[in-house]
Amino acid sequence: MQSLAERLRQQGRLGFVPTMGALHKGHLQLVQVARRRCDYVVVSIFVNPIQFGPNEDYRTYPRDFTRDQRLLKEVGTDVIFSPDVAEMYPVGYATCIEVKDLTRYLCGKSRPAHFRGVTTVVAKLFNIVKPHLAVFGQKDAQQAFVVKRMVTDLNFDVKILVVPTVREPDGLAMSSRNTYLTSDQRREATVLFRSLQLAENLIKNGERDAGRIKMAMRRLIKSSSQGKIDYIDVVDTEKLAPVKQIAGEVLVALAVYFGKARLIDNIIIRV
Ligand code: PAJ
Repeated sequence: MQSLAERLRQQGRLGFVPTMGALHKGHLQLVQVARRRCDYVVVSIFVNPIQFGPNEDYRTYPRDFTRDQRLLKEVGTDVIFSPDVAEMYPVGYATCIEVKDLTRYLCGKSRPAHFRGVTTVVAKLFNIVKPHLAVFGQKDAQQAFVVKRMVTDLNFDVKILVVPTVREPDGLAMSSRNTYLTSDQRREATVLFRSLQLAENLIKNGERDAGRIKMAMRRLIKSSSQGKIDYIDVVDTEKLAPVKQIAGEVLVALAVYFGKARLIDNIIIRV
């Protein structure tokens, strides 16, 4: 991959979309954005074991390489990079990359080693694929912030582009983990986006107290679903630290369990 990447980047702009496979229209949107901006597009498919916690879904994470391959071909992918675990983490592997501060709250709080796993694998992938541009989704807002921070801090010579969340017609953010949902859970899961819209409306109508907004979201989710709330938070978009009073730009983000599926969603609101 490194020597192929070297050759491709001599010939034009090289775009890169890292994924864990089980692709959906959200992933494909990122590929299409990369396609429009670059001459060559590389997509990686690698279910990265070190970003999963001990009791998380690494082993059951959906995998369907044949289907992914077909979908990627349809949107014009030049190269699929799909290494195996032993190749990425050989015996004796001992290095990791950790972005501090930005990983303290939101998903960083409930998944302690998660972002260290993400930044480590993304750094490795950048060194392997050598892209000019890498495309990420707003769906994983904290991940996008953390990757940007790493790129700035460690002088990676790659531009990061963040693409808006692609949703199902009823508002549910597309996710590989939606396949875990029963039909009842799938119906109930629409409350996630509705709760974010509720937050947006409250803020538009003048509410500035983050506590009251979180309470209203919690009430809506509890009254219309069996979802178990992991967190609902309102944070600033500089440090991703919780705010009490809303001012400027805030990220409203949440994680809710529907059965074994932990779903996340978020919106950015400017006042
Ligand atoms: P994965 O969950 O497969 O997501 C790959 C990319 O697709 C991420 O940038 C994610 O934000 C984006 N994405 C997922 N659902 C989306 C949606 N509905 N709309 C827009 N973009 C969406 O995120 C990862 O994999 C991994 O952590 C990875 C970065 C590959 C490192 O292992």
